Amino acid sequence: MSMNDDILKVLVSEEELKAKVAELGAQISKDYEGRNLVLVSILKGSVVFMADLMRAVSIPCSIDFMVVSSYGGGNTTSTGLVKIIKDLDGDLSGKDVLIVEDILDTGITLSNLVPMLKMRNPNSVKICTILDKPSRRKADIAPDYEGFAVPDEFVVGYGLDYDEKYRNLPYIGVLKPSVYEK
Ligand code: PRP
Ligand code: MN
Ligand code: MG
Repeated sequence: MSMNDDILKVLVSEEELKAKVAELGAQISKDYEGRNLVLVSILKGSVVFMADLMRAVSIPCSIDFMVVSSYGGGNTTSTGLVKIIKDLDGDLSGKDVLIVEDILDTGITLSNLVPMLKMRNPNSVKICTILDKPSRRKADIAPDYEGFAVPDEFVVGYGLDYDEKYRNLPYIGVLKPSVYEK
């Protein structure tokens, strides 16, 4: 049984992802030249994009990882709702932080995380996400670098999961409703 059987349609192909990541990597390399760049991957969703993006960045940088979880349900507001499950290893003082995400959805995760990271005295904090779903936004936040804006559909692959599965799909697809309705 193939994961592909659960996919309704391909939203972003492997080729499109590859081209976009190269473009983002080149832009970031230009913008952060001579700076103190640290790529901060928010696990688990960003793992695939992180691995590709870091190799598309041609300037020196360090990498770090964080695991966070959002509290509460759909009616949450944006105050102190992010819990750090695994913190960064490194000090952010004087660093130019670029948060790497797979998707900016309601924005609640990053609207809480960004102020927390800014308290650590970094030089700058910006956001790079491969997908943006602006129609779902609940917090006032926008990405500084983005790959593709996607409609409000159930997207999986390239790190994005449904029930912890489909992260290893090499493209971004829309899940068949029959998969989550059963
Ligand atoms: C997803 C996604 C983002 C976040 C975006 O992570 O990877 O990190 O939600 O949602 P928001 O903009 O509405 O806050 P999730 O919590 O599902 O964990 P995962 O990355 O381990 O899948
Ligand atoms: Mn995530
Ligand atoms: Mg998830």
